[in-house]
Amino acid sequence: MSSILYKDYKIDANFYDIFNKDRNYNVEMRFLLKMLKNRRRVLDVGCGTGTHMSILENLGYIVCGIDISPKMIAVAKTKVNNVEKGNLLNFKQEEKYNAIICMNHVFNHLNSYEEFEEGLNNLLLHLEKNGLIILDLDNRRQTGTISDKIDGNKRIIECLYNRDTEIQVRKITTYIGARKFVTEHRYLIYDPRKLEDILRKYDIKYAMVTNFCKQKFNINDKYLHIVIRKV
Ligand SMILES: C[S@@+](CC[C@H](N)C(=O)[O-])C[C@H]1O[C@@H](n2cnc3c(N)ncnc32)[C@H](O)[C@@H]1O
Repeated sequence: MSSILYKDYKIDANFYDIFNKDRNYNVEMRFLLKMLKNRRRVLDVGCGTGTHMSILENLGYIVCGIDISPKMIAVAKTKVNNVEKGNLLNFKQEEKYNAIICMNHVFNHLNSYEEFEEGLNNLLLHLEKNGLIILDLDNRRQTGTISDKIDGNKRIIECLYNRDTEIQVRKITTYIGARKFVTEHRYLIYDPRKLEDILRKYDIKYAMVTNFCKQKFNINDKYLHIVIRKV
């Protein structure tokens, strides 16, 4: 990918799981399982450190993961086997899946609405008829600072949102024991109405929900989950 927005997770991989320790995977998994039903062959796109993959595998699902970051893949490989390097925009596999999940803002790393469409197209190519794509998107447009502490490790996230570019820059300063790491990520915060214009072009059914349940999405909600079914 011509990487304007994406910055590799090579530093974040060191502490990604530490700061996700308090993340409510139960709520995410309950939602995923409700959607997946008996769709057993699942591709995790932007699988990161492989936590969803490993939970799904333990429940008997057949799961493959791809991620663009070699360091994130290295962490995932400590939990699951079936992970490979790939860019969601252009990876190619023979296999078609019953479901494709994209958890925790993977698509927000893309550069443009054109890339959103390119990515969607590529995922649809890897999906069986009646298969599902679950896109978990960040819809937060705020500027400000958030900080959290886990097991004595501290993280400060400074967010700057630009309404004209629709891009939010997040500078993340992390203290792990005596070590300090500084990383920066840029998120394209999509206008959901523009996404709907894209989605309507495809032979799909879709729903926009929030809070990892069937609650209808509203423009001011922090998170947007798009559940897409290939018809
Ligand atoms: C915030 S992490 C989410 C990881 C995991 N899905 C989770 O729920 O914790 C975003 C991940 O998306 C990956 N990613 C970003 N752009 C990508 C792309 N174009 N293709 C594949 N993976 C990508 C990053 O390397 C990173 O591991």
